[in-house]
Amino acid sequence: MRFICFGFLFLITACVEDAKQTRGTSTQNINLQVTDNDRVESGKNIFLQKCAACHSINMNLTGPALKGVTKRWDDSVLLYNYIRNAQEVIAKNAYAKSLFNKWNKVPMPPFEYLTDDDIKSILMYIKSGSSKKQNDFTK
Ligand code: HEC
Repeated sequence: MRFICFGFLFLITACVEDAKQTRGTSTQNINLQVTDNDRVESGKNIFLQKCAACHSINMNLTGPALKGVTKRWDDSVLLYNYIRNAQEVIAKNAYAKSLFNKWNKVPMPPFEYLTDDDIKSILMYIKSGSSKKQNDFTK
């Protein structure tokens, strides 16, 4: 099942990339919106499969609620790296270390295979679910 889902995701991504390439720069704004919708959808899929066991957007579970998470990290590169390998960042960053202690040292598993694009989609999904206007990205 998982495999099929990933295959499907890949297809969607491939289509989006295709669409991006065939349209000219003059329709960039329209493109962006189309892409945003797809990204939120794909972010949601990844989130539900990989993150939702421990995280919700608005509620603390095993891990913290992820609402507004990008504002808690000054350095987005560090945040991306953290999502790929939390332990590595905990070893060198004070905020990550304090978070780890605060959450009773429950380790977040690494997700090394997530690309920057995947993570961006997840963060866009989190943002879409945090805002009052929930449909900003999805409708
Ligand atoms: C097994 C449980 C678990 C899973 C699965 C998990 N996390 Fe976490 N996550 C945690 C815990 C626990 C913390 C709190 C820090 C710690 O203990 O290391 C955390 C912290 C975080 C933080 C930092 C939050 C903040 O307030 O700065 C982010 C971002 C995050 N997780 C994103 C993700 C994403 C994205 C996924 C899916 C790809 C994911 N997590 C999957 C348990 C998990």
